Order: sequence, then C-alpha cells, then structure tokens
Amino acid sequence: MRDLVFISGAVILLCAGQLVRAAGEDKVARGKYLAEEIGKCQECHTPVNEKGELEQEKAMKGRVLNWTPITPVADWHKTSPDITPAGRLWMRWGGEEAMIKYLMTGLTPRGKPAGPPMPAYKMKREDAEAIVAYLKTLK
Ligand code: HEC
Repeated sequence: MRDLVFISGAVILLCAGQLVRAAGEDKVARGKYLAEEIGKCQECHTPVNEKGELEQEKAMKGRVLNWTPITPVADWHKTSPDITPAGRLWMRWGGEEAMIKYLMTGLTPRGKPAGPPMPAYKMKREDAEAIVAYLKTLK
C-alpha cells in the first residue's frame, strides 16, 4: 500500500513537472508570436543580408536601419540596439524586470521614452513577460 501511495505521488509530481514545462514552452511560443507578428520587433532589430532577408541566426541583435523618414524627424535613431540578454542593454538595465516594465510603460529605467522610430508599447504584463521569455531564448 505504501508503495502504491509513493508511486502515485511520483507520477503526480512527474505530470505536474510536464505541465509546468509545457506552460513555459507556451509562454515562449506566445512571446515569439507577439514579438514577430504583432510588435514586428525583427523589422528593426534583426540584421538583414544583402538580399534584404532577415538573418535569423542574429535575431534581435540590432542593426543599422535601411530607411529614413522623407521629412526630418527630431532625434531620429538610425540604429537599433541588441535586445537579446547577451546584449549590453540588458546588462545596463539590470535584467528582465526592467525590460518587462519598459514594454508595459514605454519608459526606460530612467523614466524616458526611447527615440523614434522605436514605438512606445504599453503592453499588458503577461504579454510583456511572454516577449521577454522569448528574448531569453535568443543568444
Ligand atoms: C520601427 C522600428 C522598431 C520596431 C518595430 C521596434 N523597435 Fe525597438 N528600437 C528601435 C530603435 C531605432 C531603437 C533605438 C532607440 C533609442 O536608442 O532611443 C530601439 C530601441 C529599443 C530598446 C531600447 C530602448 C532604449 O531607450 O534604450 C528596446 C528594449 C527595444 N527597442 C525593444 C523592442 C521590442 C521588444 C520590439 C518589439 C515588441 C521593438 N523594439 C520594436 C526600433 C524599433
């Protein structure tokens, strides 16, 4: 009897572990979807090759934009930063909570918005967390 209780306990724990892992994978998949299909972060943050195709192995590593506005825009930024955890920005901002807050408020840790053409996203916490979970899977 005790063995049976032990075995069922172990099975339950195993299943719970799988569920937690599945939830984590769901979050990353949702974050990738939000980043790529809704926020279109890669259009500005992923480098492109000479054919103009996104270089997936350098996803979100930052780039020089290949377009400028036809009328002058104050404080225009022609480069976008590396937004992967390996980049200097994450180090400077001290980790993922700052990145989550930034996507929720549009304000950097200094309380300022980023310069154009970076959009000031005001996401729900769960969406910002999902995007950050996805960014954390990038090198
Ligand atoms: C239309 C182009 C564009 C899109 C789309 C875009 N970015 Fe940016 N992003 C930029 C540029 C340009 C900068 C540099 C602005 C600056 O340094 O003030 C930037 C800066 C940032 C910064 C640093 C902000 C700062 O002030 O240092 C973060 C973080 C960021 N982007 C994350 C994202 C994420 C996440 C997405 C998608 C959800 C995204 N960006 C979509 C162009 C873009």
